[in-house]
Amino acid sequence: MTEVPERNLGLELARVTESAAIAAARWQGRGDKESADDAAVEAMREILNSIDMDGVIVIGEGEKDEAPWLANGERVGNGNGPRVDVAVDPVDGTTLTANGMNGALAVIALSERGSMYAPGSLVYMDKIAVGPDARGVVDLDAPVKENLARIAAAKDKDIHDLTAIILDRPRNRPYIEACRAEGARIRLIRDGDVSAAISTAREASGIDVLFGIGGSPEAVIAAAALKAVGGDFQGRVWPRNEEERRYAVEHGHDVDAVLGVDDLVASDNTFFAATGITDGELLDGVDFEDRHRAVTHSVVMRSKTGSIRWMRSEHDLDRLRALGAKLDE
Ligand code: FBP
Repeated sequence: MTEVPERNLGLELARVTESAAIAAARWQGRGDKESADDAAVEAMREILNSIDMDGVIVIGEGEKDEAPWLANGERVGNGNGPRVDVAVDPVDGTTLTANGMNGALAVIALSERGSMYAPGSLVYMDKIAVGPDARGVVDLDAPVKENLARIAAAKDKDIHDLTAIILDRPRNRPYIEACRAEGARIRLIRDGDVSAAISTAREASGIDVLFGIGGSPEAVIAAAALKAVGGDFQGRVWPRNEEERRYAVEHGHDVDAVLGVDDLVASDNTFFAATGITDGELLDGVDFEDRHRAVTHSVVMRSKTGSIRWMRSEHDLDRLRALGAKLDE
């Protein structure tokens, strides 16, 4: 049995996110985010368990979504093969999916066993993400003004040419105001900060930096993706109240520590896969061409080799159904 993931598990992970995306996309716009999430979880779990690996869910559905499956600590894979940590978000953007809005993804990240940061019940992290051009220049402890100035210098831009992407939440008001005060442009998003973090590394997106407090699971998953593309990510746990602060201390989390990419995902052998559920800037959503065929769009990344694969996959739904895949409600 191999101990470390030597083959490109990323390609198998694309099967996992494709399956979750197809299942969730059936629920697009139907106003039922729980059903969309449940369908994706079930589809994801089924394919995950067919993969040659001995995986343990470090970042699961557990804490925020209270789903019964893919909970933290669950073993996944068929038990043969590399020992890995697994982070899943079967639907990043449940509300987006339920409302048929752009930007929902099915995502997964995987790395060597023991290498992924486990936030446990700490739901939120304060985050900053940039692409390869601004790698090494940002600091979550520095004021927004200084980070913007450093990013602008690194990218040979003026601050007012920069665009910051920020989750539109009252808790992120200080970030929004600080960016406005400096004259930087802002893109506010309703949800989906994994895709937003990755967009900082894609020139075509026009996004230079992600600021703001969002989900901790999404932070670890985004860190895995940015590691693969050579970008930068920092996070710090953000306890909402005294109880969470106590939990953090009792479980050994330093609430003041800025965690870099290597703290969040310590292994250099990290895999990331995402498939679009609804259309978005990063990936197109699932296209059900007719009763028999669906087309999905995915990206697969591996940090060790730096390879990034963009995949358009055509699925024969009849054959998949015959093989037992759960593709319908
Ligand atoms: P869900 O799909 O689980 O709803 O997460 C969407 C999301 O927008 C994440 O991308 C983000 O990190 C998190 O929610 C922010 O949490 P909240 O909606 O509680 O502010």
